Amino acid sequence: MLSDRRSFLEKMSQIGALSLLPGVSALAANAEEKNHFVVGPYLQNIGADEVTVMWITHKNSFSWVEYGAGGYTSKREFGYNNGLIEANNRINKITLTGLKPGTDHKYRIVSTEILGYKGSKVEFGETITSPMSSFKTPAVSEDEVKFVIFNDIHDRPQIIPQLLYRHGYTGNVRDYDFVVFNGDCFDWVTEEQQLVDHLIKPSTDIFASEFPFILTQGNHECRGSFSRHIPEYFAYPDNKFYYAFSRGPIRFVILDSGEDKTDDSVEYGGLSAFDRYREIQAKWLEKEVASEEFKKADFRVVLIHISPYHSGDWHGTLHCQKVFGPILNKAKIDIQISGHTHRYMTHDADATHNYPIVIGGGPLEGNRTLIKVRATKKELNLKMIRDDGQVVGKYDIARKTKM
Ligand SMILES: [Fe+2]
Repeated sequence: MLSDRRSFLEKMSQIGALSLLPGVSALAANAEEKNHFVVGPYLQNIGADEVTVMWITHKNSFSWVEYGAGGYTSKREFGYNNGLIEANNRINKITLTGLKPGTDHKYRIVSTEILGYKGSKVEFGETITSPMSSFKTPAVSEDEVKFVIFNDIHDRPQIIPQLLYRHGYTGNVRDYDFVVFNGDCFDWVTEEQQLVDHLIKPSTDIFASEFPFILTQGNHECRGSFSRHIPEYFAYPDNKFYYAFSRGPIRFVILDSGEDKTDDSVEYGGLSAFDRYREIQAKWLEKEVASEEFKKADFRVVLIHISPYHSGDWHGTLHCQKVFGPILNKAKIDIQISGHTHRYMTHDADATHNYPIVIGGGPLEGNRTLIKVRATKKELNLKMIRDDGQVVGKYDIARKTKM
């Protein structure tokens, strides 16, 4: 959409027609800017032998990653699509595979502008290169994993540095392997710049070139004219918002609770099908909890934006309860972590759910929380810390699964 607008403006500029269009001078100036990295690199979806490197360029480019284990960047990787090397694009999603587990890697991103095509011949422009960054692949069987969780930032990106820095994650000391944004990073999504300014850039400024993050879809990510483009900016294992992965002693199950109102609510204009979507997820969840990876894990953690319990009686909550609840209650879940209510709370196991539930706070000062989790093969420790440093939730869970 943005590139359509840009090429339209470039064409109008060539025929001198821009002055006829009110309000386009700023956009035209933007289109004339030299190519640069709009944001990135930011990491997604890291595994023992792979990671996805993402970035956005200002102009359409041909892009690649230079990388290698230790201090050398002797390899190159590109994006591939149906026999073509990815090019003439702005949003880059390049997966490095065959990496050495448990190893430090160096990398940098490179983009060569594509000025255009003369017939089938490509015309290349200038090449831009990022400074060197690094990441470490997890070992095949890590003894420990640590992660932190934000939720319900609602277009207040200052929360990211404020909470991370207040809790001691300064400079080179970052005591986490990855970061989770557990839904509702935005009120509604209208353009790429919002994704960049309110999530990707503040994350990249602090950690995301070296440590990956996960965006779990909240109900507010489902809203706005740009919401259907969100998946282009993040990498998910199966290109779906619901999936599972293992990291260290934990099997993570990520569920998408979808919208909170019924599909026929007037706000959605007849364009929602979340009941069907949650039912499809439930079928997938049944298979996941029967899998070897799930059953043999030391701990099982569920991340879902709207908790199926203790989140009011809106349709989305109750439908999550109906379709996910019975499966989760049979699955020996160790803990579920959610957001959405804007009221931080912990709920011990009860007659309706047989595992503890932690719900993070809201976006306003005094009610914002950062949830920190650390797990070894023996114990999972969770602390929910309010923005003033007060611990407002705590669980220490011993492993139930026999070795
Ligand atoms: Fe929400």
